[in-house]
Amino acid sequence: MVDLKSQYEKIREDVNAGIQEVIDTTTFIKGGKVNEFQKNLEAYLGVKHVIPTGNGTDALQIALMALGLKPGDEVITPTFTFIATAEVVALLGLTPVVVDVEEDTFNMDIEAVKRAITPKPKQLFQFTYSVKMLIWMLFYNWQKKIIYTL
Ligand SMILES: Cc1ncc(COP(=O)(O)O)c(C=O)c1O
Repeated sequence: MVDLKSQYEKIREDVNAGIQEVIDTTTFIKGGKVNEFQKNLEAYLGVKHVIPTGNGTDALQIALMALGLKPGDEVITPTFTFIATAEVVALLGLTPVVVDVEEDTFNMDIEAVKRAITPKPKQLFQFTYSVKMLIWMLFYNWQKKIIYTL
């Protein structure tokens, strides 16, 4: 799905120089390059805060923790995703509600999502690769919190 090799070839010099600088300065955690990335991404996205993390799993866990969910709260999660998506839900004692995806698009199945929605106020949507689902959410103005991962 993603051709990392050709993407890397286009920015090879910059990537190599950046990695070498991190090694030379031995600033592996919260170093200058991480701060630079944080500030650049905040400016690019026009947001006040970007929180750099060591990996995607940590990012998902921190996002869920920031929402103050309690054990038993539900997180609607697609079947077509990476294990970390459900892993962090279970780790925090939350309940993953797994919904199927469409065979032809791999987007979350809208009807399955509708069946999974309950009046629970602390029900959250977690999307992975389901851009179509995100558009539906906005269209219907469903009042649920969303975590979208690419
Ligand atoms: C959709 C999705 N979420 C989370 C992760 C976890 O990211 P990481 O392996 O950096 O912890 C991945 C990894 O491939 C992913 O594809």
